[in-house]
Amino acid sequence: MKTGVTGATGQLGRLVIAALLQKNLAPSDIVAIVRNPEKAADLAKQGITIRQGDYNKPETLEKALAGLDQLLLISANEVGKRLLQHRHVIEAAKKNQITHLVYTSLLHADTSAINLAEEHRQTEALIRESGIPFTFLRNGWYHENYVQAIVNAVLQGMLAGCAGNGKIASAARADYAEAAAVVLATSGHENKMYELAGDEAWTMDDLAKEITRQTGKQIVYLNMSEQEYASLLAGSGLPAEIAQMIAGWDAAIAHGHLFDDSHQLGKLIGRPTTPIADTVKKALESIK
Ligand SMILES: NC(=O)c1ccc[n+]([C@@H]2O[C@H](COP(=O)([O-])OP(=O)(O)OC[C@H]3O[C@@H](n4cnc5c(N)ncnc54)[C@H](OP(=O)(O)O)[C@@H]3O)[C@@H](O)[C@H]2O)c1
Repeated sequence: MKTGVTGATGQLGRLVIAALLQKNLAPSDIVAIVRNPEKAADLAKQGITIRQGDYNKPETLEKALAGLDQLLLISANEVGKRLLQHRHVIEAAKKNQITHLVYTSLLHADTSAINLAEEHRQTEALIRESGIPFTFLRNGWYHENYVQAIVNAVLQGMLAGCAGNGKIASAARADYAEAAAVVLATSGHENKMYELAGDEAWTMDDLAKEITRQTGKQIVYLNMSEQEYASLLAGSGLPAEIAQMIAGWDAAIAHGHLFDDSHQLGKLIGRPTTPIADTVKKALESIK
């Protein structure tokens, strides 16, 4: 059984490959699909097959996917260009008669107001139309998305945002990677989707309290309007469009769009998900 992983030199991809090896998949049965093979030298040293495949170049993908049985398509990271990029991968998977296509989507992609959801909804639709048996891993937020905010909070004495009292059921990137490895290494996941989120849900106020607890320094959460938050982000040097997009995520969080309490991630990996307190601890260690 040959298993391909796209985005294999990315942060999630590397963790998925490590988790697959831990689940005793033979390195020779894992194919890392990367746009820059030089970045994958360490994976090659572990015996993993490296193939070049660029989401923007369909001909490279057709070759890269040859002979694979199953494929993890890790969603691309260029927002706005991803549907076409994903289409190229799905078409190559179809041509190569891949029998199981696993895709990293977004939590509650079908109903989510997070502005990233549309590309995921459309990609899920393309995969369904392809007729390839699929699994949708609808990933919630990574804890790691907050590392920089935690570091800044310690320096500035406050966290800022417009997420209100919205609960965020995030989990560590490694938790999501392990879930992907479980789906690839075990049977019975075809034509299913999993809403993957952390066991613990927290608000920005809870996060401020956790940073306070771990540092002994008073950190408050300043909640503002979506426009005020976008202006704050733009003022700190982010392009206006990106600032607006990030503020939009927070606004959706305020309405519960990153909350889930079905515990499907913990069930899939067979252990509780990583607490946000662990990520706070790591972030604080990085500035000691
Ligand atoms: N759930 C969340 O909170 C969250 C947060 C951030 C992102 N995401 C999504 O989850 C995905 C994985 O997360 P991550 O943290 O691993 O992101 P990442 O570190 O940015 O990894 C993205 C991977 O995609 C590869 N890639 C980008 N453009 C490509 C192209 N044209 N052809 C082939 N490969 C290409 C990158 O290749 P290189 O190694 O060569 O750069 C990298 O390996 C992201 O791409 C994004 O869709 C989710």
